[in-house]
Amino acid sequence: METEGEQLCEAARNGNVDKVKTLIESGADASYFDSDGLTPLMHAAKLGHTDVIRALLEAGAPWNALSPANQSAGDFAMDSGHQEAIEVLVNAGIQAELILGTIARKTKKTGDSEGDYLEDRVSFSEDKLMDSDSKAVMMAWEKPLMAAHAKAVCSGGGNILNVGFGMGLVDAAIQQYGPATHTIIEAHPEVYERMLRTGWGKKDNVKIIFGRWQDVLSELESYDGIFFDTYGEYYEDLREFHQHLPKLLKPGGIYSFFNGLCGGNAFFHVVYCHLVSLELENLGYSTQLIPLPVKDCLGEEVWQGVRHKYWQLDMYYLPVCQSLQDPE
Ligand SMILES: C[S@@+](CC[C@H](N)C(=O)[O-])C[C@H]1O[C@@H](n2cnc3c(N)ncnc32)[C@H](O)[C@@H]1O
Repeated sequence: METEGEQLCEAARNGNVDKVKTLIESGADASYFDSDGLTPLMHAAKLGHTDVIRALLEAGAPWNALSPANQSAGDFAMDSGHQEAIEVLVNAGIQAELILGTIARKTKKTGDSEGDYLEDRVSFSEDKLMDSDSKAVMMAWEKPLMAAHAKAVCSGGGNILNVGFGMGLVDAAIQQYGPATHTIIEAHPEVYERMLRTGWGKKDNVKIIFGRWQDVLSELESYDGIFFDTYGEYYEDLREFHQHLPKLLKPGGIYSFFNGLCGGNAFFHVVYCHLVSLELENLGYSTQLIPLPVKDCLGEEVWQGVRHKYWQLDMYYLPVCQSLQDPE
């Protein structure tokens, strides 16, 4: 005989919202996983049964449960192009993350938050900067993205701030725009030493500030362009940096950040792109997300020797943020 969970999956597949509600009322578990590792919400999402999706979410079905292939209900809805279902699930994700913030509490590129990266050794090679755990701090495949970020934040010229030097890719690109001043904050001692060794301290328009951005805020001015790309930090740190934008960004200035939020899952990434845009809007900034295809620069060989693939999506969405109140 079918269990209640199996009956719920079947009703979800059939789009039978009355049956779904009856089963839930009689105690069926909305977070049930069937023998294929799929939840009722995933079944409903695959087929775009929006009423069922709403009923299941109201009954506490987890929006972020993953199938054995690491797909969430939202990924299934996106794969089959069910727009209304996608919107309902995105909204559920945003609401849940606003309150709980469970997904992106992990560090940006490492996938875990153990240990203090800033106290550990790093190693440099031509195509990557690695931490002591063989996780990539920065990789050369991001060079075209860094060039695009530099172009965005330098579009008004003037004084530019970059947070996080890494391999210096974005800073090399910023230099090409000849900014009046170019301030770089870097917190890792070995990265800082390498900056000095490679002549960054001798450039006329460059000011290097060694330390965590959180600790050197009092040394900062206000800037025409700001780029933010740290490592080993939480989404909360990015959020905290955003709280300082009204002081750091001049009227009419451009802000951008490395948008690696949930780079391992297409749907979670969509949710976080919405969430960060919403949070920036609440602070008075508009966010434009410019799609840049990255599939071609990301073959399997790129990840050889790297313990964690921090990016697995085909498209990168480059954020360009500006004050909503700035004059045209
Ligand atoms: C992903 S890399 C930056 C890559 C850089 N955008 C590029 O184009 O090469 C991150 C850098 O931020 C530095 N970092 C990490 N936490 C920081 C913090 N709290 N303040 C300043 N720099 C930090 C790391 O040491 C690392 O060099």
